[in-house]
Amino acid sequence: MCGIVGYIGRPEKTSDHAALDVLLEGLRRLEYRGYDSAGVATVSAGSVETRKKAGKLVNLEDEIASSPVAESPVGIGHTRWATHGGPNDLNAHPHLGDDGKLAVIHNGIIENFAELKAGLTAEGITFASQTDTEVAAQLIGHHFAGDAAGDLTEAMRLACGQLEGAFTLLAVHADQPDRVVAARRNSPLVVGLGEGENFLGSDVSGFIDFTREAVELAQDQIVTITSEQLDIIGFDGRPAEGRRFTVDWDAAAAEKGGYDTFMEKEINEQPKAVEDTLLGRTDADGRLVLDELRIDAEDLKAVQKIIVLACGTAAYAGTVAKYAIEHWTRVPVEVELAHEFRYRDPIIDETTLVVSISQSGETMDTLMAVRYAKEQGAKTLAICNTNGSTIPRESDAVLYLHAGPEIAVASTKAFLAMIAASYLLGLYLAQLRGQLFQGQITDILADLHSIPAKIEQILDDSGQIKQLARDMAETPSVLFLGRHVGYPVAMEGALKLKELAYIHAEGFAAGELKHGPIALIDEGQPVFVVVPSPRGRHSLHSKVVSNIQEVRARGAKTITVAEEGDATVEDFSESVFRVPETQPLLMPLLTTVPLQIFACALAAEKGYDVDQPRNLAKSVTVE
Ligand code: F6R
Repeated sequence: MCGIVGYIGRPEKTSDHAALDVLLEGLRRLEYRGYDSAGVATVSAGSVETRKKAGKLVNLEDEIASSPVAESPVGIGHTRWATHGGPNDLNAHPHLGDDGKLAVIHNGIIENFAELKAGLTAEGITFASQTDTEVAAQLIGHHFAGDAAGDLTEAMRLACGQLEGAFTLLAVHADQPDRVVAARRNSPLVVGLGEGENFLGSDVSGFIDFTREAVELAQDQIVTITSEQLDIIGFDGRPAEGRRFTVDWDAAAAEKGGYDTFMEKEINEQPKAVEDTLLGRTDADGRLVLDELRIDAEDLKAVQKIIVLACGTAAYAGTVAKYAIEHWTRVPVEVELAHEFRYRDPIIDETTLVVSISQSGETMDTLMAVRYAKEQGAKTLAICNTNGSTIPRESDAVLYLHAGPEIAVASTKAFLAMIAASYLLGLYLAQLRGQLFQGQITDILADLHSIPAKIEQILDDSGQIKQLARDMAETPSVLFLGRHVGYPVAMEGALKLKELAYIHAEGFAAGELKHGPIALIDEGQPVFVVVPSPRGRHSLHSKVVSNIQEVRARGAKTITVAEEGDATVEDFSESVFRVPETQPLLMPLLTTVPLQIFACALAAEKGYDVDQPRNLAKSVTVE
């Protein structure tokens, strides 16, 4: 939520990049984090120049084209997801200090902004916007001119001591043009290391065009970058160190690569995403090796209960995980929306394993729930896609997805990778606890390894579902039904349609239908049904077939996603989309794909921006 980027190169070297180019490139890559407005500030010849514009980045680029900024080696840039104050030019970042020489950008929410604003107003400071960020800017400026005696790092530190809430702040000052100062609490920030130049970003995509060497910061730290070095201190002023890492993907991975949209690209990357999640996690004897988990094997054996915490799509992946992990390990698994968990006095102790699932690793609701669980003594394990992000850093253990960058705001490939990683975790626990025979684990792993080719097959045969999406473009509402692991798939199918195509869609457990939702069925109502394998529990399959009959009897138009060879559904479906055979528990890795393709194609048919749907942001860093 909100993308931030900072840059500093050597002033005397023309070979370094111009700050503006780096900032705009970084903002282009970070735009998925928010697109209500965008802005930059650069420093040159003793002054700060800002340009900012409501709407997408292209508006800012037009503004700069008509009103160019002076060449500069230092600057900051911001792309906004509005919280305080509407999405207009005035509220766009950067915000300036009182003397116009300080520019500040911010990601997060400053909770005590009203109180701070009142204090600053009483001292004669006037405000140009309604944002909490301007309060931070004025506060830093106030300290810079006062007790920090013209030292931007110290001014930032003093201001941070007064701020409550979540923030990443970046500041530049015309009187100290040789540095960018940044601070973070509960919001993301990484440093990119160049030669004679350094970078800051909300995540590494903010500077991936220029370097893959990065440093992650811990909580409550301030970093000052110059062209030659970085200095990290805590909010208490003590020197600190960051953790250095190399990004394992390059700029090409964050390009559309010939597809019209990132979403199409990411849907098509799913075979590789699942393959990469599975890669290197078995030894020569076919045993799972997850040494990276960093939790003692004895502690994992002692686990009595697993709680999966996540939000949105990640929570649906968690629901699939519940079915598989409970089945394989016989350890009870609860899945809970992270924002609900913290406020219900959950029962947790040292024998509880809390598994968080997050693509970004920055979702504030999930982060806060993980912290709460840690405080209560639980072991915490993160399933995450983003190296250097906060949730894995604060967890006892991490299982990275290695799915590559996910740029489209709505999640697709990360969902499948999360499910694959959850299966690995479940099988690993079953192996450790001796709950499954090694042969059983080897068989399931073999099936898992065959999944990428099966996804490929679904992608190759996607013409029919795309046509259906085009035909259904004017549909006002779509229902999705599923049972067992098909239930979270139904909810994910509905969520994709809501967020991409702005169509009312609901996912239900098929058995729940008769308890109320069946009243929604009317003549012609489209209903997608995720049909379980007839080779699994027979009763499950036949129950879903009965549910199909129930809705058809009331006029529904049924569209089924069913396994190849399942002849039963033919007579009861307007359209059938086939997925290859696999173990019933693994089916979500296949049945999700047609639903993603459907939502994406339908939204495209309606002319919507599938990569950046309205009102959303990729990484939700506010509660
Ligand atoms: C939906 C979607 C969101 C995210 C949710 C959690 O397509 O992308 O529902 O799944 O905001 O985000 P992460 O996984 O980054 O914690």
